[in-house]
Amino acid sequence: MSDVRIRPMQLADVPGAEQLSAEAFLDVDQRSVRRSWPEPELRATSRAATWIERTEHFLRTDPDGCWVAESDGEMVGFATSAVRERLWVLATYAVRPGRQGAGIGKPLLEAALHHGRGCLRAMLSSSSDPKAVRRYRLAGFSLHPQMFLRGTVDRSALPVVEKVREGTASDVDLMDSLDRRTRGAAHGVDHPFMLEHWRLLVSDSTTGSGYAYVGNGGLALLAADNRLTASRLLWTVLADGPDEVTVPHLTAANEWAVDVGIAARLELHTEGYLALRGMAPPTPYVHNGALL
Ligand SMILES: CC(C)(COP(=O)(O)OP(=O)(O)OC[C@H]1O[C@@H](n2cnc3c(N)ncnc32)[C@H](O)[C@@H]1OP(=O)(O)O)[C@@H](O)C(=O)NCCC(=O)NCCS
Repeated sequence: MSDVRIRPMQLADVPGAEQLSAEAFLDVDQRSVRRSWPEPELRATSRAATWIERTEHFLRTDPDGCWVAESDGEMVGFATSAVRERLWVLATYAVRPGRQGAGIGKPLLEAALHHGRGCLRAMLSSSSDPKAVRRYRLAGFSLHPQMFLRGTVDRSALPVVEKVREGTASDVDLMDSLDRRTRGAAHGVDHPFMLEHWRLLVSDSTTGSGYAYVGNGGLALLAADNRLTASRLLWTVLADGPDEVTVPHLTAANEWAVDVGIAARLELHTEGYLALRGMAPPTPYVHNGALL
């Protein structure tokens, strides 16, 4: 550890960080019986470009939240984080397999957490890696087990869903209000990135408001002001998606989503934790793994 230097991440570090991340998470995947994230091949191709763009986005908005651990001029770990209003989120955190468990991750996480020192709340989606979970609990996070749904949608179970439309950039104020209400902070500057990469669905009627971002891999983020609207949006995501779907990142606070999945005859599994400081699990809300 004595030869390791913690320094701010630079744009030139991002492709190397992507490779390191892919290696570290492939390693976790291989040790995990079930996984909620996509197959490694998928990660290696189109996801790599999106990962790089997303990390460059964080580096632009939060240069003080993104850190690299370097040993002999080589990157051996990194942590990227962002502050949105009074909420700190950890986007990605990884140490090179073979160098893990030797104290490199601790100062990296501390550097990222320092970026959020003025925040009332903190939020991250933890893998099942016991080393990660140990770091987060020691940093004062409460660990809320995450579930995910996976399987083939039973199309005969799909209800008729009304009052859901395509969203646009003109819905950003509505989405920011919903995020403040559910997770205590707007996504703000993240919307241009999300609008560019994902389809946006919006429900805004007399019975309630909500939105869902949908990527190739399925549901990316969802917030609503009541469970009926949230369920309506999730049913639309399932109806419009492929037969084989994954709905990741569900906490026990979001049983409405579990119930939609059960009704659609999807399988329910567990993986990882939603780790929180200064807040209860948001609901009705399905967080994104990196943009939370
Ligand atoms: C999570 C991760 C970034 C932490 O980095 P790291 O360099 O391994 O972290 P550290 O060595 O500083 O801390 C790990 C802690 O777990 C302990 N540990 C080591 N092996 C362990 C094991 N098999 N089970 C439980 N704890 C273990 C270490 O002793 C240390 O605790 P301590 O500081 O109290 O002694 C790294 O392990 C990693 O990349 N994991 C795979 C990717 C991942 O899951 N990232 C987190 C995404 S949310």
